[in-house]
Amino acid sequence: MKVVEHDKFKGVYWIDQGGKRILATKNIVPGFRSYDETVRIIGGEEYRIWDPRRSKPAAAIINGLRTFPIRPGTKILYLGIASGTTASHFSDIIGNEGIIYGVEVSQRVLRDLLPVSEARRNIIPILASARDVESYVDIVEEVDVIYTDVAQRDEAEILIRNADLFLKKGGYAMIAVKASSIDVTAPPKKVYRMVQEKLMQSGYNPIQQVDLSPYDQKHAIILVKK
Ligand SMILES: C[S@@+](CC[C@H](N)C(=O)[O-])C[C@H]1O[C@@H](n2cnc3c(N)ncnc32)[C@H](O)[C@@H]1O
Repeated sequence: MKVVEHDKFKGVYWIDQGGKRILATKNIVPGFRSYDETVRIIGGEEYRIWDPRRSKPAAAIINGLRTFPIRPGTKILYLGIASGTTASHFSDIIGNEGIIYGVEVSQRVLRDLLPVSEARRNIIPILASARDVESYVDIVEEVDVIYTDVAQRDEAEILIRNADLFLKKGGYAMIAVKASSIDVTAPPKKVYRMVQEKLMQSGYNPIQQVDLSPYDQKHAIILVKK
């Protein structure tokens, strides 16, 4: 088994397994399992498989995302962090110089994040609705990246409110769009266009839109820059 770092994305790796390339991140807390992820030890280092069926940014990278703004040292505001499946891979990539402010509305779900954030010192869990930015304005600082995955009808508005307040100028926002959460009847491509237009009208420049099929049907990731 061989491992190489992604040619553009620092902290993201390809493991060559029997001629098949598999995405992974290097565990910053070796021995600790953030969820039931698969682990490979190569050259004495522990790599965690980043499964595109369980994590949308992994699907976007495999499907040709050209700019991935999360790298060592990045400060992230994560809306809809849930129990931390995707966040744990972001945490590996940003390392101990970076930070993730993770907002989650469900107390039950956030409880499962707590052991992960205790082991990974770069995740700060925040129990709040991402619609209610005032409730965490004193906790969150200016960030380099906002990642949104709340699967709500007003997801674009939620992102804009947070990005206006917390995203630095020149920073990136990534929004995971589940078409059916926004409009069950419209074709997904039309929904993605609507979301992108809303973001553009609020001053966020579109960089790329990546469809996540076959890993996640009727989902896309839209990347914009402030
Ligand atoms: C699709 S799941 C997120 C999965 C997670 N991003 C991952 O990849 O590991 C959506 C999450 O958003 C949360 N959520 C929904 N509405 C929210 C809101 N207004 N504010 C914060 N979190 C919200 C849900 O409770 C749920 O945990």
